[in-house]
Amino acid sequence: MPMLAKLMAVVAAVAVADEVDSALRRDDQCGSGECGLSAVQLRGVKGEELLELEKGAKEVEGEEAHEGWLKDITTKEKNHFKHILAPLQKPIVTNYQYLVVLDSYANYTMEKIENATGSEVVWNRKSLLQQAEEEMEQEEMEDASTYGRRRRSVSGADLPPRARYINKILIYLNKEMDAVWNLNTIVDRKRWGVGNTITSSPYGPHGEHPERWRANGTFPLPLAAPVSPVLNLTNTLTMHIKPEEHKYDNKYAQQLQADYQSLIDNINDASKKCNDLRARLFKMDWYANKFIALPSGVWNKIDAQ
Ligand SMILES: *[C@@H]1O[C@H](CO)[C@@H](O)[C@H](O)[C@H]1NC(C)=O
Ligand SMILES: *[C@@H]1O[C@H](CO)[C@@H](O)[C@H](O)[C@H]1NC(C)=O
Ligand SMILES: *[C@@H]1O[C@H](CO)[C@@H](O)[C@H](O)[C@H]1NC(C)=O
Ligand SMILES: *[C@@H]1O[C@H](CO)[C@@H](O)[C@H](O)[C@H]1NC(C)=O
Repeated sequence: MPMLAKLMAVVAAVAVADEVDSALRRDDQCGSGECGLSAVQLRGVKGEELLELEKGAKEVEGEEAHEGWLKDITTKEKNHFKHILAPLQKPIVTNYQYLVVLDSYANYTMEKIENATGSEVVWNRKSLLQQAEEEMEQEEMEDASTYGRRRRSVSGADLPPRARYINKILIYLNKEMDAVWNLNTIVDRKRWGVGNTITSSPYGPHGEHPERWRANGTFPLPLAAPVSPVLNLTNTLTMHIKPEEHKYDNKYAQQLQADYQSLIDNINDASKKCNDLRARLFKMDWYANKFIALPSGVWNKIDAQ
């Protein structure tokens, strides 16, 4: 299940990357960007959502047509947005690659613990506290996406062609960011699973009665810790990408500019979380080594959470 989730995340990231590439290529082919994007545009947006977007946009049209909501961004503005959005794919992929390395490190610590205890680390099952936290996060995200949808009803389905084209690129890049956050969650759960095993084994790896201990499977010791510049603490993973500031009169351009800036905030934030996660993984590995070295059968509770 976690394997599958991870695979899907990679597939999603690659597919989205391809779509952005092909969207960019197509635009190059037709110059003004007002031609044949519909297949690419529609993929990934659910029919239901489209209808909702359309409804929202119509309402807005009625209210705000006189404020310039009907005027598309200029070709020059469109090209400018394209120009500043295209390079953002690279730091997103870099964030993902950081997390793949952190995943290998989380595996390493987990395998050591599994070898010591002779049983699997349960990491993909949530504690009650985690469940509660995730439910709260979920609610927050739903609130945020309702807000986002409402905003997007302004810049979504009924968008004029050039604004819609840029909006689609933003949507694809945001989907790639979803894959980044998913992998971050997976790695952090592994870290949590290791901590949980340590904290809930107060009598050491072989328990209170080590003479009765039996391995529940074979768990070979990992041969060596992974080595990567990503795991070298002198290299920070935190990014400080600066958005280009630009003031627009056009309403769509203003909205796209705001979405562009929040995408950059999201990329920077993910990289900072990645950097923090690395520190927490190292700390957990330290607890793991301490735990593995303890004699079993003696109360030595380590609080690794
Ligand atoms: C971590 O372990 C899982 C399960 O064994 C494996 O599928 C995955 O590829 C590993 N991750 C890395 C980055 O080696
Ligand atoms: C031992 O492993 C089996 C599956 O391999 C699992 O169903 C069982 O719960 C494990 N027992 C313990 C005590 O972890
Ligand atoms: C731990 O690793 C060593 C070396 O790979 C191996 O000989 C041993 O059987 C492993 N222990 C378990 C419980 O799998
Ligand atoms: C870590 O990175 C620094 C600077 O990039 C380098 O000088 C150092 O040798 C690296 N350490 C290891 C253990 O690779």
